[in-house]
Amino acid sequence: MSITEQQIATSVLVIGTGGAGLRAAIELAEQGVEVLALGKRPRSDAHTSLAAGGINAALATMDDQDTWQQHAADTLQESYLLANPVTVQIVAQGAARGIEDLERWGMPFAREADGRISQRFFGAHTYRRTAFAGDYTGLEIQRTLINRAVQLGVPILDTVYVTRILVKDNAVFGAYGFDLTTGRRYLIHADAVILAAGGHTRIWRRTSSRRDENTGDAFRLAVLAGGKLRDPELVQFHPSGLIEPENAAGTLVSEAARGEGGQLRNALGERFMARYDAERMELSTRDRVALAEYTEIAQGRGTPNGGVWLDVSHLPRETIMRRLPRVYQTLLELQMLDITKQPIEIAPTAHYSMGGVWVRPEDHGTGVDGLWAIGEAASGLHGANRLGGNSLIELLVFGRIVAEEAAKYSSGREAQRRSADAVGEARAEIDQLLTNDGPENVRALQRALRDTMTARAGVVRDEDGLRAGIAELTEVEERITQVGVHPDIAGFQDLAHAFDLKASALAARATLDAALVRRETRGCHNRSDFPELDESLQVNLVWSGPDAIEKEPIPAIPDDLRPLMRHVETDGKLVE
Ligand code: FUM
Repeated sequence: MSITEQQIATSVLVIGTGGAGLRAAIELAEQGVEVLALGKRPRSDAHTSLAAGGINAALATMDDQDTWQQHAADTLQESYLLANPVTVQIVAQGAARGIEDLERWGMPFAREADGRISQRFFGAHTYRRTAFAGDYTGLEIQRTLINRAVQLGVPILDTVYVTRILVKDNAVFGAYGFDLTTGRRYLIHADAVILAAGGHTRIWRRTSSRRDENTGDAFRLAVLAGGKLRDPELVQFHPSGLIEPENAAGTLVSEAARGEGGQLRNALGERFMARYDAERMELSTRDRVALAEYTEIAQGRGTPNGGVWLDVSHLPRETIMRRLPRVYQTLLELQMLDITKQPIEIAPTAHYSMGGVWVRPEDHGTGVDGLWAIGEAASGLHGANRLGGNSLIELLVFGRIVAEEAAKYSSGREAQRRSADAVGEARAEIDQLLTNDGPENVRALQRALRDTMTARAGVVRDEDGLRAGIAELTEVEERITQVGVHPDIAGFQDLAHAFDLKASALAARATLDAALVRRETRGCHNRSDFPELDESLQVNLVWSGPDAIEKEPIPAIPDDLRPLMRHVETDGKLVE
């Protein structure tokens, strides 16, 4: 088959057209810097569009005592002291500006009668600070950012799969990839690259990521470029994922359902959160609620399908229709279930990569010159438990910051060193996959890998299970060398899936390695063989290859934030 290769040059290349990538691209375009954004799925359908319940900023529109310092303190507290205080302060302090940017570009936030932006409670926040647009917040943000990018004429190619970031002497000079429909190759030269290609939660069987998204692409791209990963074992299991239908297992029921007053019950009808966090009940942190559900199910008090009930049917119908429209619609579409009348059967679902590519806390540089990472691809803000609503604000704040950094870097470049070897390697990798017609099937191997991660590295882990997971993964890795890739008239999706699989295998390896080293229970990471928190492990784990893990110290929490770190009361929280 003869395949052409198109060469393109730009100043800054953005990989990923979700909220993080678009926010960065907008900043670059506003500064007059040449930018190109690439994505592997339609821009209007990026993963950001699934983010439901809200975006955090201490705007104090509902609770006037709220401050950015309190937002930072809540984030640090609930990260189990693994978040980087520098990153946290930058996000909390810059959050109001992130919201202002969205407002200026037309974001339709929910508002109170007097026009104030409405803010609601999300789990473990001291005050109401989650702004929202029904439970379609991410979708509205994505639309707003697309509109702004179109106004600015940002070029977006959202049918391009990036297989390599091109590097010479620890400095990037572009990226290589192919078109998902035509197979045409792309050799893109760029001074700087911003990596915004998501996390790795699709490597679990029950996940809030859809097929072919969050397959670990960003992790693989960064590591092959010379970057490292931080805390890949810290994966947030959201308490409310659907169990059925199997082909949509893990689909998210927004935390907004609990924020609005939804109740959790086991098969005996008990509001079981009273056993685990009597103060905060359903508004406890995600890690605690997910573990509570896991325990109820494991101890035989689960529903027939192995879940628990989430009930909003006692709420006024009007509240459900106005504030939880997506949950209402999703349940009707997937299960023909009317949530105004019946409870929802749920279980924990792999939802968010809290670890990710190692980045400097202040500017999200990766240590590879000219390469930045942001959004779910990056690490540093969430530690061992992410507060709902913090990811959307992070991408607004750091999208702007990395764009400023990349713009400065690009304009300061006097020459760019390129490498024919690096380009040759990228070309050869695709050629080899296309010609090596092995007997193994990519989809089957994806399933095997997801089964391993679910069985061995789910909500609760232990040494034996993790070691068995590594052995199973090694077998999968061997089989990956024997895959057959068959592009057809419909396009080159099969080739993309093969690269997704390679990325998922790397992400799984990093996750299992780090989960073994973290011999403690902290936040989302529950080790049944090490049930206590180990203070000596109040460090980040930095992974640079199989079995290569270093412990990285975390800077001290500033004195002015410490006194604000406390547990949160729930009195009055369910009533707005
Ligand atoms: O439950 C949710 O609406 C998810 C929000 C988030 O992950 O930030």
